[in-house]
Amino acid sequence: MKIILIGFMGSGKTTVAKALAEKLNLEVIEMDDLIVERSGRKTINEIFEKDGEICFRELEIEICKELKNKDNIIVSTGGGVVMNKINIDFLKENGRVIFLKTPLKTIKKRLKNSKDRPLFQNKKNVKKIFNFRQKLYEEYGDLIIDTNSKTIDEIVINLINLL
Ligand code: S3P
Repeated sequence: MKIILIGFMGSGKTTVAKALAEKLNLEVIEMDDLIVERSGRKTINEIFEKDGEICFRELEIEICKELKNKDNIIVSTGGGVVMNKINIDFLKENGRVIFLKTPLKTIKKRLKNSKDRPLFQNKKNVKKIFNFRQKLYEEYGDLIIDTNSKTIDEIVINLINLL
C-alpha cells in the first residue's frame, strides 16, 4: 500500500501521516526532510535563501521520482508538491493521493508563529497561493478528507474507512 498526503502548509500532513502509519504499520516518508538532507543545507529556509525556490522544487521532483518504485509507505508531501504535475504522476503510480482539506482561516491560526515556512512569511501572497493550489489539490486527490474540526483520531478513522 502507498498513501500520499497532499494539502496546504499546516493542513496536518505530518501529524496524520505518523498516526496513520502506526495504525497501518507503514513507513512514513517526510519529503521535506529528504529534500533538506539531499540539499546539504540545514533547513528549508536556508535552501530558499541560498539556492532559491527553483532548486528546492528540483530536489522535490527528484525525490518524487525516487518514491515511484517504493511500496508500503505513507508520504507526507510539502504543500507545493502540486506545483509540478510530474510529481503527482510519479506519486500516483501505485499510490493513492489523499487531500487533507483545511480552511485558510484554520491554517493561519495554526501557523501564526511559524518561521520555517518561507512561503508563509509574505502574508499578502498566502491567500493567492492558497486559492490557486486549492484547485490542484482537488484535482489530484483521489480522496478528499475535510479535516476541519476533526481530531487526528477522527481523521485517521475516516481515512481508513475510505481506503
Ligand atoms: C511549501 C511547503 C512546505 C515546504 C516548503 C514549501 C509550499 O511544506 O515544502 O516550505 O510550497 O507550500 P509543508 O506543507 O509541510 O509546510
